[in-house]
Amino acid sequence: MLKIEGLHYTYEDGTPALNGIDLEIGQGDFVAVLGSNGSGKSTLIRHLNGLYKPSLGRVLFQGKPLGDVEEAEIFSKIGIVFQDPDDQLFASTVEEDVAFGPTNMGLPPEEIKERVHQALHMVNMQDFARKSVHALSHGQKKRICIAGILAMQPEIIVLDEPTAGLDPMGVHLLMHLLEDLNREKGITMIMATHVVDLVPLFMSRIAILSRGEVLRYGAPDEVFGDSEMLQKAKLHLPLIAELMHILKTRDNVKLHHVPLTVGEARREILRLLTVEDVKQRV
Ligand SMILES: Nc1ncnc2c1ncn2[C@@H]1O[C@H](COP(=O)(O)OP(=O)(O)OP(=O)(O)O)[C@@H](O)[C@H]1O
Ligand SMILES: [Mg+2]
Repeated sequence: MLKIEGLHYTYEDGTPALNGIDLEIGQGDFVAVLGSNGSGKSTLIRHLNGLYKPSLGRVLFQGKPLGDVEEAEIFSKIGIVFQDPDDQLFASTVEEDVAFGPTNMGLPPEEIKERVHQALHMVNMQDFARKSVHALSHGQKKRICIAGILAMQPEIIVLDEPTAGLDPMGVHLLMHLLEDLNREKGITMIMATHVVDLVPLFMSRIAILSRGEVLRYGAPDEVFGDSEMLQKAKLHLPLIAELMHILKTRDNVKLHHVPLTVGEARREILRLLTVEDVKQRV
């Protein structure tokens, strides 16, 4: 679906932000790009719809270099939600903003109306359609940016730190929405984040980014099994995995593997406790 080959990018002031990125993202993948501040996540993301041109290397979409794909096709098939909502929103009202993409795609007015309505509903902002974009809170603005992309029904959705600034319910709703779109509609998802706790719950693959390089690209089990590499990337294990890792290494608890989620940890703890233990403790 998307292939990144030897991607280098140096900013005008000489900052080498990407230093040779190779990544292959398959159709239907849910990929996390995980990295600390300044590791190059946003720079990488801005290459995925051709907004930035590589200093060296290339990005292929369905086998074609992005430079050879029509801008309108990229725009309708690859939706990007930027880190800062103020970089994305520009219309005066919420519904005008969400309608921008579908209007540009040349869809009939009835369909645009329906898509705007649906997209606002998906992010729980249906009551804000007539509100001025400037009068929204930060979290509300983020939801509107996401609605704007959903209304275009792209094949790939790329999100840069979409959960930053959302309240716990907002994070929960958004992640489940993305999961549904990925599983039911087969939309390929790429999400830049440094929230390690979200990753094992939702993503199928993780790319660890550090100083503009991919240190590791693989399944959560594999990536979170390499704690030395995570330290190098200035990241830590998901909190629950950290606890289980300590129980295993310091307290010699006989774990089969280090669980990454609350559900896995619960099963592993119950396996260790005999039924009698559980009864006594209840
Ligand atoms: N416009 C710019 N001009 C010069 N250097 C830049 C510019 N934007 C980013 N950089 C530099 O490029 C590097 C990567 O920045 P980038 O924004 O891609 O990181 P990030 O992983 O998204 O970080 P964060 O977690 O803080 O969002 C950093 O060293 C940053 O200082
Ligand atoms: Mg960023």
